[in-house]
Parts: sequence; C-alpha cells; structure tokens
Amino acid sequence: MIGVFRPITYQVSENDARVVVHKTCALAAQTFMLAMSNEGYDTCPMEGFDSRRVKKILNLPFGAEVNMIVSCGIRDEKGVWGDRMRVPFEEVYKRL
Ligand SMILES: Cc1cc2nc3c(=O)[nH]c(=O)nc-3n(C[C@H](O)[C@H](O)[C@H](O)COP(=O)(O)O)c2cc1C
Repeated sequence: MIGVFRPITYQVSENDARVVVHKTCALAAQTFMLAMSNEGYDTCPMEGFDSRRVKKILNLPFGAEVNMIVSCGIRDEKGVWGDRMRVPFEEVYKRL
C-alpha cells in the first residue's frame, strides 16, 4: 500500500538480492576489462562454462555462483572466425 502514495523499492526478496549482486559483479568485470584494455590487453567475457568444475578448481563452496569468466590475453588478428555482430546503438540507447 505504501507504494500507492510514494515511490518505494519493490526488489527486496532474496532472489532480488542475487540479481543485485550479479549486476554489481558484472560492473566490476566491465571495469576490469576496461582497465585491461587500457593496459593493451584483450578480454572476453563468457557465461557458457561448467560451473561445477569451475567451483571445484577454485575451491568455492557448492552454493557459490560464478558471475562470468573473463579470459585475458593479446589478440591474434587471425583469431576472429566469423562476422562480428553489433546491436545497433539506437536499439540500446534511449534519450529521454
Ligand atoms: C556476459 C557475457 C557472457 C558471454 N558469454 C559467452 C560465452 O559463454 N561464449 C561465447 O562464445 N561468447 C560469450 N559472450 C560473447 C563474447 O564475450 C564476445 O563478445 C563474442 O565472442 C564476440 O566477440 P567480439 O565482441 O570481440 O566481437 C559473452 C558476452 C558477455 C557480455
């Protein structure tokens, strides 16, 4: 009912907190990737991995969640195997 009279935050459940933590991790990952780029390195974020094996290798608890894996290195100009696709800027940026 409070939300009828004034703006409030609705995302307060445990699951909402998980989403917030993943967003925060993704921002940290992006900052890391930008910093790596500034130092002359390339990075590639990946979500498609075997989380159980990754957690085992890193000695993380079973309940831990891995946000993403970021590979790092120096690009090989012959390393791009197909056409690179970019979503048009106008589709993801809205000026209000
Ligand atoms: C959060 C996130 C997760 C991604 N996960 C994968 C993945 O598991 N496997 C994959 O091939 N590409 C994944 N990608 C895409 C690659 O990181 C990369 O953007 C793609 O290979 C295209 O390369 P390019 O941006 O240099 O053109 C992911 C991208 C993001 C932002």
